[in-house]
Amino acid sequence: MPTKVILDVDTGTDDAVALMTAALSPDLELVGATSVNGNTSIEYTTENTLRVFDFIGMPEVPVYRGIDRPLVRMDVKRGMAARIHGDMLDLPPVSNGARLQPGNAVDWLIETYLASSGDIVLCPVGPLTNIAMAIVKEPRILEFIPEIVIMGGAHDHGNITASAEFNIWLDPEAARIVVNCGAPIRMVPLDATHRALVSTDDAARLRALGTPAGEAAARFVLQRIDGYDATQPMPRRGDALAAPVHDALAVCAIIDPSILTTEHIPVDVEVHADLSLGRTVCDFRFRSGKPGNVHFAMDADEPKFNRMLLEILGRSA
Ligand code: BDR
Ligand code: CA
Repeated sequence: MPTKVILDVDTGTDDAVALMTAALSPDLELVGATSVNGNTSIEYTTENTLRVFDFIGMPEVPVYRGIDRPLVRMDVKRGMAARIHGDMLDLPPVSNGARLQPGNAVDWLIETYLASSGDIVLCPVGPLTNIAMAIVKEPRILEFIPEIVIMGGAHDHGNITASAEFNIWLDPEAARIVVNCGAPIRMVPLDATHRALVSTDDAARLRALGTPAGEAAARFVLQRIDGYDATQPMPRRGDALAAPVHDALAVCAIIDPSILTTEHIPVDVEVHADLSLGRTVCDFRFRSGKPGNVHFAMDADEPKFNRMLLEILGRSA
């Protein structure tokens, strides 16, 4: 039986690869996708999400528009996101019938979870605004969420600041609500995603698959490598340049948890500080005296990740 999953996305180049992986994997049933402000504005993250499903011939996947700004903070800064994602993805306008569902993402999440049998994994790969809002509005949904698999956080080093990872930093108050919500949480932070890079050689292999998803993924991986090389170069793979494809790793971890090495530890989010705003504070030595609330990944299996992308994105709808 495929695992049911909902993706919450700020699409975005790596979100797009995550969406295609979730939609095409025979091991997952993608119940729907919700958009959120993040890599770019909600107008673009929503339109990009529709274009991804339309391009791979799966216009029927329901897409709901989410919240257009962080929960508390009025200012929206995006830092390096613009260089790595742009606003509109390099995909044609919708022509196969993908269209936005009426209603908003938060209410759809609440209704869908309350009507479920507690079997839909929630996978947020953008700022946690929609998820926090749904939990605050209807805390009973927590009884119906078997696991939240989050792409976000960083222990060793940040990307948007020295301390913080982009998704958590953009809406730290929302992230704090979610990591403390009590549901089982697996976190796929930069510590893991930077250990599972996708290279220019891997992009050539994706393109050679000859499928719409392989072509789109190759495009986005190359765009990411270009952006990373300009802003935060990653270690090469032989002669090839490479970049993380963060959000797709979170989806692969739902399909095959062995792709990550995790530790169950207390994790909280800094919401008061200046230099370390949005930092995921990881209590590896249990100094707080609290029990673990997050399975936090510090490593990932790069060859397995690339094998999974090739196998899944070689499929057509
Ligand atoms: C995360 O931030 C976004 O730019 C990416 O889509 C990913 O979800 C990585 O820090
Ligand atoms: Ca994202």
